[in-house]
Amino acid sequence: MAFKLLVSLLALAVVSNAGTIRKATCADGRTTANAACCVLFPILDDIQENLFDGGECGEEVHESLRLTFHDAIGFSPALTKQGKFGGGGADGSLITFAAIETPFHANGGIDDIVDAQTPFVAKHNISAGDFIQFAGAVGVSNCPGAPRLQFLLGRPDAKQASPDLLVPEPFDSVTKILARFKDAGFSPNEVVALLASHTIAAADHVDETIPGTPFDSTPNIFDSQFFIETQLKGTLFPGTAGNQGEAQSPLGGEIRLQSDADLARDSRTACEWQSFVNNQSKLQNAFKAAMAKLAVTGQDTRKLVDCSDVIPVPPPLAGSAHFPAGLNRRDVEQACRATPFPTLPTDPGPVTSVPPVPPS
Ligand code: HEM
Ligand SMILES: *[C@@H]1O[C@H](CO)[C@@H](O)[C@H](O)[C@H]1NC(C)=O
Ligand SMILES: *[C@@H]1O[C@H](CO)[C@@H](O)[C@H](O)[C@H]1NC(C)=O
Repeated sequence: MAFKLLVSLLALAVVSNAGTIRKATCADGRTTANAACCVLFPILDDIQENLFDGGECGEEVHESLRLTFHDAIGFSPALTKQGKFGGGGADGSLITFAAIETPFHANGGIDDIVDAQTPFVAKHNISAGDFIQFAGAVGVSNCPGAPRLQFLLGRPDAKQASPDLLVPEPFDSVTKILARFKDAGFSPNEVVALLASHTIAAADHVDETIPGTPFDSTPNIFDSQFFIETQLKGTLFPGTAGNQGEAQSPLGGEIRLQSDADLARDSRTACEWQSFVNNQSKLQNAFKAAMAKLAVTGQDTRKLVDCSDVIPVPPPLAGSAHFPAGLNRRDVEQACRATPFPTLPTDPGPVTSVPPVPPS
């Protein structure tokens, strides 16, 4: 507490030589555009060390990114129109009202990261809504190839839990998924852009027998492999068959959601999906823009302070777009009618199975 007070007291608003750009120098010497953002540096250091295991793009980062979505998508103007409470969006209600929201079916497994983040919220002077989006943006910055996400500070505490049934399920139809996102303010192209998150992702609960099974072969890299590999013909279940919301995948050790399989093949989304293959700058820009919108869902942005410069710059992309060993363009289930699937090399070497994302 004393340290926090010190941080804010020592945060000096200074005018630069140019006289136009106002920069604040915080207690530890780091600078940011606005003195109000100084509170974030001690939180940044704490979560990099103690939540993300020293700055990894591992399980906690993946879970933290998923949490940004599950908190924010709890927002429904359609429910409000019916005179009901439609949820507060990116307001931290998943932490503040964890006892109500974590048991929702679509939030399966989210209690792990809610439990991991809650002590950090208690320890620092930050709202749960701000913390969830801040942790997501910082976490993504640990993943090579990711864009540097925007972060705005100042979400008030949630007053009420989000209603159930607003988070999409992997067994929902494309029509249902697009309608849910439209209600929350997102276009089909933005839905596809947000699903770039599944390039740094794994499932613990779709097939409970194989926890940590990733959605693409490079779950610690923010690349386009997810968009490539979801377009390949499904040939196997990596664990057991018959799980709700699971489709066959093209690779041992890789899991495919029914929703991702369908969105990759639906005429409303297939061309946008394919457009991210081997176009890293488009992938980065579209994800950054859609995440900026997601992170302030339901919030009054006029009351928020832009603290984006506190978010670290992610490492550059490692590796380049390819078909996994043993697969090639004959395995592509082309769904975009307008443009052919990009030409890609096949990874050399023997066919391998994708290893699980280790728990930490
Ligand atoms: C059509 C919409 C979506 C559906 C149906 C969906 C469904 C799922 C499911 C079923 C899982 C696996 C959970 C588990 O078994 O552990 C998952 C994981 C994940 N999702 Fe989504 N998702 C959607 C959109 C999004 C969006 C918009 C984001 C973020 C912007 C996101 C981020 C993630 C991440 C990062 C993981 C991995 C979590 C981990 O590795 O622990 N998802 N998603
Ligand atoms: C906590 O943050 C708020 C602004 O979000 C600020 O007004 C308050 O002074 C801070 N408290 C401490 C103890 O730093
Ligand atoms: C990548 O996407 C951008 C933006 O849509 C587009 O202008 C560009 O032509 C694309 N590049 C390739 C190689 O497809």
